[in-house]
Amino acid sequence: MIEIYKVQTIDGHRIDCTIPSEENVSIDAKELMLFPALIDPHVHFRTPGAEYKEDWKSAAKAAIAGGVTTVLDMPNNTPAASTALALQAKEERVKDQLNAARIPLRYGFYLGADRRHLQEIPKLKESVVGLKIYMGSSTGDLLIDDAGSLKDAFQIAAENDLLVAVHAEDEGLIKERSKHFLDRKDPAVHSEIRSPKVAALAVEHAIRLAEETKARLYIAHVSTKEELALIRSAKKRGLRIYAETTPHHLFLDDSAYAKLGTLALVNPPLRSKQEREAVWEAIHDETIDTIGTDHAPHTLEEKQKPYGSAPSGFPSIEFYFALLLNAHAEKKLSLEQIVSLTHTRPQEIFRLPIDDDIVLVDLSEKRTLGNSMIRSKAGWSPYLGMALQGWPRYTVCKGRLFDLHHIA
Ligand code: NCD
Ligand code: ZN
Ligand code: ZN
Repeated sequence: MIEIYKVQTIDGHRIDCTIPSEENVSIDAKELMLFPALIDPHVHFRTPGAEYKEDWKSAAKAAIAGGVTTVLDMPNNTPAASTALALQAKEERVKDQLNAARIPLRYGFYLGADRRHLQEIPKLKESVVGLKIYMGSSTGDLLIDDAGSLKDAFQIAAENDLLVAVHAEDEGLIKERSKHFLDRKDPAVHSEIRSPKVAALAVEHAIRLAEETKARLYIAHVSTKEELALIRSAKKRGLRIYAETTPHHLFLDDSAYAKLGTLALVNPPLRSKQEREAVWEAIHDETIDTIGTDHAPHTLEEKQKPYGSAPSGFPSIEFYFALLLNAHAEKKLSLEQIVSLTHTRPQEIFRLPIDDDIVLVDLSEKRTLGNSMIRSKAGWSPYLGMALQGWPRYTVCKGRLFDLHHIA
């Protein structure tokens, strides 16, 4: 049994609580605050096919360090998780890696939409948390860029009551805009090619398909004012549409290219300060339902390649909670909002079972993000050097206690 004494709750009480466990420990938690463990609805843990970037051993440690005990993993693996066979093989490897790490992380998988395998959807609907559709190209080869297949995918998902999750960037417009920037080699051109319009066009298309087919729609990594206006209006019309944003669209903007160069590449790209402001507003008016890390590790060597060869994506799961707690310390976010965005809404939207995993947080701990704190195999972070106040101290996952000052 894990016994926790005198812990503060976010609504200002002090309580004792116990969690069934094979271990017998008691924690004096007078200085700590109790949170439900975080659910990260959007990760790329790279198994199978790119385990040199990350695997579930390193990623599970990073997740626990970030107060996360449930992750929903994207299908852009090699091979892509778009068939029953691929999903089964992926799950076996994931289980082996979690066993090796001795971390009982909770997880769900997305099914990758591939126009050649849409007929597999009905038999897989109970085994996955959603159907992930890449409307624009990103890491991996999953892409549906023709209107016919896109509508079929929405239709089949709707008939099977499967949530549709989209990477909403319009592939046609990306290709078209690329042609106008061929002479630019600086990474900041990425934000111009994949402009706010590129995202808005795809979001508009996805909402139209959700309306026509009655599919439930989850829009990943929303980063612009125009996308948010479309989502706000769709929600007002009563459509079952949910919006996710990411830590990087809240805490970074396109000024990062000057410091990070190609390390700052991500899809959808970092945006202007005004767009970033619009994302914060949408957190406050609840247009945004969730924050997913989009933890997308690549090695430093890969990230440092020239523009055109360097891959897009940031590792971030280990600092997810600290970034949000720091935003609370800066009075940008309430504790209730953090719980809603990282726990309650993802649990509802993805219909996840209720569990008793928790995180104990030290709201006053201050640490500067340094290399030695990185657990992801990626080995770098776009947030290095940031001083953050508010850190998770203990994570409890399926009755296992992890002391975050002493995890291996
Ligand atoms: C992701 C990745 O590397 O898997 N990259 C990214 O820039 N976000 C893919 C994705 O989510 O688009
Ligand atoms: Zn994406
Ligand atoms: Zn992603």
